[in-house]
Amino acid sequence: MANPIRLREPITPPAPGQGPQPSVDAVEPPDTAAQRLAAALRETRERTLTLVRHLPQQALTSVYSKLLSPLCWDLAHIAAFEDLWFSRAAAVAQLRPELMATYDADETPRAQRGELRLLGPDEAFTFLEQVRAKTLALLHAGRFDASVAELVIRHEQQHNETMLQALQIAHLPSPFAHAQTAPGGDPSGRSVSGTRLVLIDGGEAWIGAGPPPAFAYDNERPRHRVALQPFLIGSAPVSNADWQGFIADGGYRRREWWSAQGWRWLERERAQRPLHWVSDSEGWELGELRTLRPSAPVVHVSFWEAEAFAASQHARLPTEFEWELAATWDPAGERQRPLPWGDQPVSRRFANIDQVGGAPAPAGSFPDGDSASGLAAMIGDVWEWTSTPFHGYPGFIAHPYPEYSEQFFGDTYRVLRGGSWATRARVASASFRNWDLPQRRQIFSGLRIAKDPA
Ligand code: AVJ
Ligand code: FE
Repeated sequence: MANPIRLREPITPPAPGQGPQPSVDAVEPPDTAAQRLAAALRETRERTLTLVRHLPQQALTSVYSKLLSPLCWDLAHIAAFEDLWFSRAAAVAQLRPELMATYDADETPRAQRGELRLLGPDEAFTFLEQVRAKTLALLHAGRFDASVAELVIRHEQQHNETMLQALQIAHLPSPFAHAQTAPGGDPSGRSVSGTRLVLIDGGEAWIGAGPPPAFAYDNERPRHRVALQPFLIGSAPVSNADWQGFIADGGYRRREWWSAQGWRWLERERAQRPLHWVSDSEGWELGELRTLRPSAPVVHVSFWEAEAFAASQHARLPTEFEWELAATWDPAGERQRPLPWGDQPVSRRFANIDQVGGAPAPAGSFPDGDSASGLAAMIGDVWEWTSTPFHGYPGFIAHPYPEYSEQFFGDTYRVLRGGSWATRARVASASFRNWDLPQRRQIFSGLRIAKDPA
């Protein structure tokens, strides 16, 4: 085994709200926890509204896919979640408890659910405003719990990503100015492939998030050590050009590259190419049909497709632990760092993150974000499927409620890592674990391959 990893605990990344934050509003320098949280709530709400402001009413109420709620459900759900958790922390009554059955079903026993009727867009906007006024009053009065407030902010931000999934499925226009959209070519002039591999040392890796006060989701704790053998991992996510090669090689016809379950999925779906591709050279990016950029990461592939692509390369998907070690490992310093580029907070200096890029970016677009081992785009661009089923870490404790992640534990859901271009910067980290069903591809999912050394 190559260099054993030091047993010292890695440094915990700066808590959100400290260090530079990507912000839409220019806010006063925040000087108390309540002001910092209020500023983050305001910035987050501004984004939520930006995502829907340009849409006609009917786009908010339409159901575009069985897999996604109408956008006006997300809006009222965001408000209901904020009302529930701020009210609980302050031990006060909720504004609209009767809406919980519709907008937070997990929290409401079945017997208490009445007639389910969705709020219309105007009612949803009003509900958002009323809850927010109450939230700000509680913050002002000092009647809040900082970690609950952080959960509420992140919850709205996670729905910012599902809202973009809905826009993408419906081919609705982008809410962002095109100035920030990734350019058509590879800025480095290279044609970068996700099939070049880098060797990562084995050893005892630290996995997961450290203890409070830094915020983390229950499923990221407790931090623990995992013994890993040396492994090879892709220096970049698998690209559109790589995927076009896979299709040309008969990727969707060659049974030997697919698992039994994967092949059943392919036959059922009649899958021939990633979701949102309309041919082998063009795909939807929100409301625009565009020529696929060869060196941009492939996106909207299922776990089954990701696995088959890896098999076509005589490779496999990384485990989530390999992914986390690869993202954080600094071979020269022989230590793990909080983020691929070191310890500065996640921002668009380092990664195609926080939605405004509009799509995965061509390889080489964010050179400052490379990991110490030279891995590009570990954070942002596309969620990366791992081979790992979603389970609790040893010693897992549900927080703040078992329905947040525990109800999804088991062998069905697979873990995705790293965040996508549509993930808000605040919620992306090297220890964040996303999860979804292996057949899902409405999410902004791609992959990076891995392999055992020869
Ligand atoms: C972490 C993205 C899987 O959307 O189901 C939102 C986040 N949890 N509301 C999801 C979440 C509750 C969650 N994912
Ligand atoms: Fe939610």
